[in-house]
Amino acid sequence: MNTRNLLVSCVKGVGRVQLHRPHVLNALNRELIRELVQVLEEMDQQDEIHVILISGGDRFFAAGADIDEMADASAVDMLVTDPFSDWDRIRRISKPMIASVGGYALGGGCELAMICDMIIASEKAQFGQPEINLGVMPGAGGTQRLTRAVGKAKAMEMVLTGRPITAREAFQAGLINRVVPTELLENESMKLAQEVAAKAPVALRLAKQAVLRSFDTTLKEGLDYEQKLFYLLFATHDQEEGMKAFKEKRPPRFFGK
Ligand code: CAA
Repeated sequence: MNTRNLLVSCVKGVGRVQLHRPHVLNALNRELIRELVQVLEEMDQQDEIHVILISGGDRFFAAGADIDEMADASAVDMLVTDPFSDWDRIRRISKPMIASVGGYALGGGCELAMICDMIIASEKAQFGQPEINLGVMPGAGGTQRLTRAVGKAKAMEMVLTGRPITAREAFQAGLINRVVPTELLENESMKLAQEVAAKAPVALRLAKQAVLRSFDTTLKEGLDYEQKLFYLLFATHDQEEGMKAFKEKRPPRFFGK
């Protein structure tokens, strides 16, 4: 697919999407988000892609929604054009998504990283929800996903002061999976993506769904859901192969069937 704001490739089971609007620090305008949604949905359908890795530039992952695009909008414009409806499609991507964050992940940038299932960041990365400084508030999950990830105290502080936190603080707060030296970010992100990409693809999808379900259901319903998905996996060739390979003491060969 041809895109103006993304660099897209596929390496060994990993679909790579690099945000690429460097002149505005990857500010997420509507066009970029539309392209991103289309690419992610295509990758979600491609059998050779098992995991999606989203990255930005060295100094910035994304500096948030495009302020120039929003500045003159009225409430009616916002309601009618509903810019965040595209974001809802990102959360429906069923394959695991990993964010590789090399610098600023602010506002929508932080929200995009948080839609991903894991976040790996360089020592230089910063995470923040600075919308309050613009007279607004987060609108693409910053009050909800952030609070679930770091708890009320930290989320309130970030949302109400707009002050970003460092990658180390984000790691300590449970927002991100790991922090790596800047020069290793690309390699470590690919390594993590490939480790996941080697697993059984259907099990990956269902496991992702089950973990996400825990955020919006009761424990009982979540456990019932998990059981059903677990049983369902016994209809796959990969379950047979995974268990057979274990018994034969060899690595499994998964086919996503
Ligand atoms: N939208 C549009 N343009 C942006 C932008 C954004 N979010 N962030 C940066 N830019 C532009 C700047 O206007 C500047 O353009 P010019 O060269 O034409 O002046 C260019 O990118 C470089 O930016 P800076 O000169 O500001 O770079 P810096 O290194 O001095 O500062 C920064 C970096 C701290 C990230 C600063 O750019 C900044 O604070 N950006 C805005 C961050 C922000 O408020 N994000 C939230 C947006 S609202 C949102 O995201 C809502 C939501 O919930 C989805």
